[in-house]
Amino acid sequence: MPHERFRFKDRLALERRISDLGLDIPLSDDISILFSPVVVARKVLPNRLVILPMEGADGDPAGRPSELTLRRYKRYAVGGAHLIWFEATAVTSDGRSNPRQLWIRPETRDGFKRLVKETRLAAHRKFRSEYNLMLILQLTHSGRFAKLEGQPAPVIGQHNPLLDAKLGLTPDYPLVSDGALDALQDDYVAAAELAREAGFDGVDIKACHGYLVSELLAAFARPDSRYGGSFENRTRFLVETAEKIKLRVRGLFVTSRLSVYDALPFPHGFGVNRDDPDEPDLSEPKKLIKKLRNIDYPLLNISLGIPAHQSHYGRPFDKPLIGQDLPDEDPLVGVARWLRLTSEIQKGFPTLPVVSAGYSWLRHYFPHVAAAMVEREKASLIGLGRGNLAYPGWVNALAADGLLDQRKVCVCCSKCSQMLRAARPVGCAVHDSGNYQAEYRAARKKAKEVLRIEKKTARSNRRKKKRKG
Ligand SMILES: Cc1cc2nc3c(=O)[nH]c(=O)nc-3n(C[C@H](O)[C@H](O)[C@H](O)COP(=O)(O)O)c2cc1C
Repeated sequence: MPHERFRFKDRLALERRISDLGLDIPLSDDISILFSPVVVARKVLPNRLVILPMEGADGDPAGRPSELTLRRYKRYAVGGAHLIWFEATAVTSDGRSNPRQLWIRPETRDGFKRLVKETRLAAHRKFRSEYNLMLILQLTHSGRFAKLEGQPAPVIGQHNPLLDAKLGLTPDYPLVSDGALDALQDDYVAAAELAREAGFDGVDIKACHGYLVSELLAAFARPDSRYGGSFENRTRFLVETAEKIKLRVRGLFVTSRLSVYDALPFPHGFGVNRDDPDEPDLSEPKKLIKKLRNIDYPLLNISLGIPAHQSHYGRPFDKPLIGQDLPDEDPLVGVARWLRLTSEIQKGFPTLPVVSAGYSWLRHYFPHVAAAMVEREKASLIGLGRGNLAYPGWVNALAADGLLDQRKVCVCCSKCSQMLRAARPVGCAVHDSGNYQAEYRAARKKAKEVLRIEKKTARSNRRKKKRKG
């Protein structure tokens, strides 16, 4: 099914395409269910709409939120969502994905306190004092995608030929030791305590997108380790860290964003059919969620795919990143995959509030799909990612008018992803161009330069090979 851009003149045309492709993407006329209450962590959220975590690469070198970070979150706060899931925030210096990634530690705690305070205040000012936001901070170690001072400094849980090749890692590149992972558990606990002091309601031990904790879930090929091989060992880091936070940090809940399908061939992917990496197998993710449920996870955010490997899995788009080919997949197939996997988890755990994502590509039609998902009990909460950067007031617009302004929605151009890749502050270069167009230009320049060097190296390697042969 070749890739096709979004070009539907009306909802009927979209529905026709869905049907032609034989996909299960339900749409509902009535979106009012999105504004029905839901209980999460003993609090009533008045609507089902969630701001998904989106790394902004706009912290200061110390890891503190900057004025740009504050701007992003204040825009979300006045946008009408009640649950804001803050972006991937490093728990250690060697776990940062770029020198501008947020990093929570004693020295930056007050910066996070201010971020929480100003986010809540912005909502209170706009919606009155009884308005209550639920704020979750995503804690991470970037693992194989970690960088020190902008240079790759991978911390890997297992070797993975596909991903190792991208980073130029040889088979003798050392794996992170069990001792270092034991110590890292305590770094997560310390970060969770700081998050509580800063005023967050909950923390997310990020377990998605191939970062360290997610890679460990798939560490079938990690030899002689308490963190590799068996299901118990592979899930140990996540489960033990969550248990420790729960035990040691009072007044804060623990959750995760969990990739339930890595789409990497066995033995390197989690949630993957051992004979066919194109086929998910959710038996292990479900077994893990059962364990997380037993540690009182009050909700779960579902994700999939490894953006650094196949970005279209997690972020169906119209235009790829610079230098990338268009995938041989219609974005609607990607959207349907998101919905199918999320539904399977929600159906398996009907009392667990599950956050569903992957909607931005559907533009202004997305609320109809989201409403159908909630109506059919295939998801409890609906998260938007890229759409927030483009249109931070989308929840208010939906509440007031029952529809989204199609001139303001995300166009899935991958510019925000490009900015993140270049470690430039992330925002919407299309709808917030005054603030982000220059950042995108800088990111594009960097990407073209990297591409030029890669091509030159490849040419020279080919020539060398030819001479040898
Ligand atoms: C620039 C960018 C930054 C992102 N940062 C994070 C992050 O910090 N944590 C995370 O779990 N997902 C992150 N994501 C993934 C999004 O949360 C979301 O899952 C994805 O974009 C699909 O949702 P959408 O179709 O609504 O954009 C990021 C995506 C983009 C494009």
